[in-house]
Amino acid sequence: MIDLHVHLLPGLDDGCGTLEETVALANYLTSEGIKHAVATVHHLPGVYEIPPETVSEALTRTREALEIGGIPLEVTVANEIMIQQGLAERVRSGELTGIGKMKHYALVEFSSREIPWFAFTTLEHMTELGVIPIVAHPERCYPLHRDIAELRAWYSKGILAQLDLGSLLGIHGTRVQRFAEYLVRNHLIHLLGSDLHSPPPIPDLWARAYRRIAKLGGQEYACIIADDLPRAVLEDEDIGRIVPSPRHAKRYSLGTLASSLLGYASKD
Ligand SMILES: [Fe+2]
Repeated sequence: MIDLHVHLLPGLDDGCGTLEETVALANYLTSEGIKHAVATVHHLPGVYEIPPETVSEALTRTREALEIGGIPLEVTVANEIMIQQGLAERVRSGELTGIGKMKHYALVEFSSREIPWFAFTTLEHMTELGVIPIVAHPERCYPLHRDIAELRAWYSKGILAQLDLGSLLGIHGTRVQRFAEYLVRNHLIHLLGSDLHSPPPIPDLWARAYRRIAKLGGQEYACIIADDLPRAVLEDEDIGRIVPSPRHAKRYSLGTLASSLLGYASKD
């Protein structure tokens, strides 16, 4: 399996703090059957703007440590980019790092509280320039709980979405967990990531989340989003025939929506 979103590199952002922590996390991932990790590095203007040379140094140190430790984990690097205008051009120029051999995919995150007015046009513009957005953990973006049509509009443009495994297991609270279940049940998730920043708070995170996905969305769907699709993304293969079609979803349940709205102002 492939972890498309994990903050593995040491000492760059809020991910692993030390090389020892990086090695422990890598060991954990391989113990769960992960063969390839996309080590994500935050790009958040004014907070995290880490020069590519610094990232490259951390990647080299990580690969050396894994080799010395005999840990069979392939590691590549990509930015997790806070939604911003001009994003497509910055990925195309190589200023920000995309995912896949040709860097044709970009992991884009949103604040949990709002979707900026330029979101749709920015994501659409990315696809027009041949950079496919992968929306990171949409289940943690509360405005989407209230407006599933927004997410469906994004998908109609070929935009993909990545689920955080911990969301499905309740790490981010019940509201996020319920919405994550809804997305998985209706095949509205395309890719998976642990989004771990250090060794996991839950043992067997991957195994437990995978079983839950297979139960909610079916075994074949679990295989596609855990294996087939991330592999095609990394290899820059045609994903057209692999992307699962959404199930004809019922509307997000009123009860769940109500609890989401009532708890909206509180912290998870
Ligand atoms: Fe992340």
